[in-house]
Formats: sequence, C-alpha cells, structure tokens
Amino acid sequence: MSTPPWGRDFHADYDMNAVELNEHYDEVVDDLVRTCPVAHSPAGEGYYILNKYSDVQKAAQDWETFSSKDGFLPNRPEGMPYWYPVECDNPFHDALRAVLNPFVSPKAIAKHEPAIRQTVNDLIDEFIDAGVVEIVSQFANDVPGRVFCQVVAGMPAEDMPFLQRSFQAGLVGPVEERGGAMTRALEHIGRYLEQRQAEPPRGDIVDAVLNFEYPGYEFVDKAGTISQVTQGGIGTTGFVLAGALYHLAKHPDDRKRLVDDPSLLPVAIEEFLRFYASAPQLGRKTTKDIEVAGTTIPADTRVILSFGAASRDPEICPRPTEVDIGRSPNRHMAFGGGPHRCLGSHLARLNLRVGLEEFLRRIPDFEVPADFVPEYQVGVTRDMITLPLRFARDRAAVR
Ligand code: HEM
Repeated sequence: MSTPPWGRDFHADYDMNAVELNEHYDEVVDDLVRTCPVAHSPAGEGYYILNKYSDVQKAAQDWETFSSKDGFLPNRPEGMPYWYPVECDNPFHDALRAVLNPFVSPKAIAKHEPAIRQTVNDLIDEFIDAGVVEIVSQFANDVPGRVFCQVVAGMPAEDMPFLQRSFQAGLVGPVEERGGAMTRALEHIGRYLEQRQAEPPRGDIVDAVLNFEYPGYEFVDKAGTISQVTQGGIGTTGFVLAGALYHLAKHPDDRKRLVDDPSLLPVAIEEFLRFYASAPQLGRKTTKDIEVAGTTIPADTRVILSFGAASRDPEICPRPTEVDIGRSPNRHMAFGGGPHRCLGSHLARLNLRVGLEEFLRRIPDFEVPADFVPEYQVGVTRDMITLPLRFARDRAAVR
C-alpha cells in the first residue's frame, strides 16, 4: 500500500500510541473501518485491531474467546498495576459488577443531580465574569472529576487534581512513565481506603468494595477496583464535554437549537459520545484460534477492540464523519459492549446533560478563536488538550 497522507500504514503497522494517531485519529479510523476490518501491529508482543462494528460487538460479547484477565493493554508498561473489573473474567467479574452496579444505576445516580448542578454552576461562576475560559482545565475535566471524587466516592476535593494528572499520565503520557504514574495513583487510593476502614461506614461504593469478599481478592485489588472506577469517573467524560462545546462553538445553528430546546440534549449527547469517543481502544487476549473477517488470529494473541472505529462504521451509521445532533437511532459503541460495558454510562450521561444544560443556559453565545486548531492525545483514552472559548459577558446569565 502507498503511504497515506498521515504518513503511516495503520493497516499493517498500527500503533495505538503513534503520534500520527494524535493528529489524524478520525481519518485513520475512517479509513480502517471502510477498508481494513482487521489491522495488525508488529509493535512489541504484536497485536490485532478489530474495526468493524459487527466484529467488535461480537468479540466484546464473547468473553470466553476474547478474555480480559490478562489486561486491556498491549505491551503492558513495566509496573502497571492490574485493575478490576476491567481486567478479569467471569465468574469473578460478574460477582464484582453485582457489588458495583447498584451505586451507578439510573435510580442511584438520579439523587446526585442537585449536587452535580451545583458543582457545574460553581465552576461556571469561577470564569463567567472573565468572558474567556480554557474549557478543558477549567470546566470539562472538573465536572466529572469533582462529581465522582466528592459526590460519589466521598474523597477530599484536594485529591482530584493529583488523581486526574496521574491517570492521564498513566494512560496517554510517555510510555516509560505510565506504570509509575498508575502505581502512585493506586497507592494514593490505598491510603484513602485505609482511612475509610478506620472510619464509620457511609454505605457508599467505597464501603461496598471494602466489604466485598472473594477468594484471592486482596486489599491491593480493592485499591485497583476503586482506582479503575475513579479513573472512569474522572477521566473520560471530560473529552466528550469539551468535544460537544467545540462542536457547538463552531456550529451556531446547532447551538441555537439546543439553547432554545434543551429537551433535544439527550439525543445530541449520544452523538457527542459517538463522535468524540473517549475510550476508543481497549484490549483482550484470545483463548483459542479464531477467525475474524477472513483473518485467523492465533490463540494467546492480544486483540484491540476499536470502539472508536466501530462507532464510525458506515454499515450502522449513515454519514459517520458528520456530527448530526438529531441522529436517531444511534448505535454507537462509546461505552463498549458485552459484560465489560461501561459501569458508569448513566453517570456519564447525567454529567453531560447537566453540564451542557447549565453551560448553554448561562453562556448561550460562545466561539473559539478563528486560528484555533484542536490537538488531541490518543492511547486507551482520547483527550483534547485545550479548548479556549470566548463569550459575550453581557449575554451571560447569573445562576
Ligand atoms: C463518556 C464517558 C465514558 C466513556 C466513553 C466510557 C467508556 C468505557 C468503555 C468503552 C468501557 C469498556 C471497556 C472494555 O470493554 O474493555 C468502559 C468500562 C468501564 N467504565 Fe467507562 N466510560 C465513561 C464513563 C465512566 C464513568 C463515569 C465511570 C465511573 C463511574 C466509568 C467506569 C467504568 C468501569 C469501572 C468500566 C469497566 C467495566 C467492566 O469491566 O465491567 N466509566 N467505559
């Protein structure tokens, strides 16, 4: 194949950490999903990448063939701790999910809505008089971060920036620093769990994990569980929120539709989740030889499920390269599929709805500087690095 405009042959030389992916993610996955159902990476241990919606969906459901117990990362960085529930199989996986699910069901999280609204408005208050804001660091990451750490897991507010930095460094930072960053986050959470063990119970998700007993499930695994839930809680929603605000800054007609009728937000949010896929590529390991779209993948081989590519498959999504805020149905795989489907999808949707409702109510008119070009960081997760917005202060509303 001739070298594509992004300078790397991702069909045969895929690299989930490649700089080309930071700059050309959308074009690369759009090409893969149309022309290369199964890509390959020769990097390190080597791995395959499934791109088509039907193949990704099937593999995500078939956990006996596509196992999670050896982790979701190819070429696992040295010292990287294991995380549950994402890096385990049944029967343990189902037992752990049964402990966690009740704390993030639609009913359980609905009671957090007033606290989420207050958090969102507190953040907006901090920049509304300035007429400018850097969305990623002043809003988008802090909404899910504060909500998860303080409202759901009862952690001190001061813990959030450290954990946010550590998880980001651990997932998309320099590869050689990832294991250390994740270990520091795990140790920090371990100290929080020790402190919680010494306190009266609060009946929250942290107590539920501390009280969960299963053969071989030790204290360090409990810290790994709370680490993973916290990373999911604080790490992924921010990109969708930033992506949504970027789109709405660039498309005043879409913005006006949502400002005039916020009841359209839930449908629009599904499209932002699809397009700004923030956990786009997670791995499994095969337990036997398996054929996918004509490629035989041997047993004991790492396979990446490209949820990001699957959500842009023209076979399930007409005009997948366009953001259509009225798209319905919208069969995206932003939250994965099968038994490991995202634990926090209801919380993510609530954060996004309340975050956008309040932002659009108070700041209905905003724009990005004309010369702004977004930059991204891609690995297991995908982030926008900065998003500067300007808005008319005289049109901004008090809370
Ligand atoms: C827009 C926001 C989010 C996106 C796009 C997202 C995406 C995903 C994806 C794709 C998976 C599947 C992983 C796999 O199959 O290997 C997943 C799993 C998971 N997510 Fe999320 N997530 C989001 C928000 C959250 C939140 C808010 C939380 C915490 C409350 C969370 C916690 C988890 C956990 C614990 C798992 C592992 C589930 C399991 O293995 O059983 N996520 N997420």
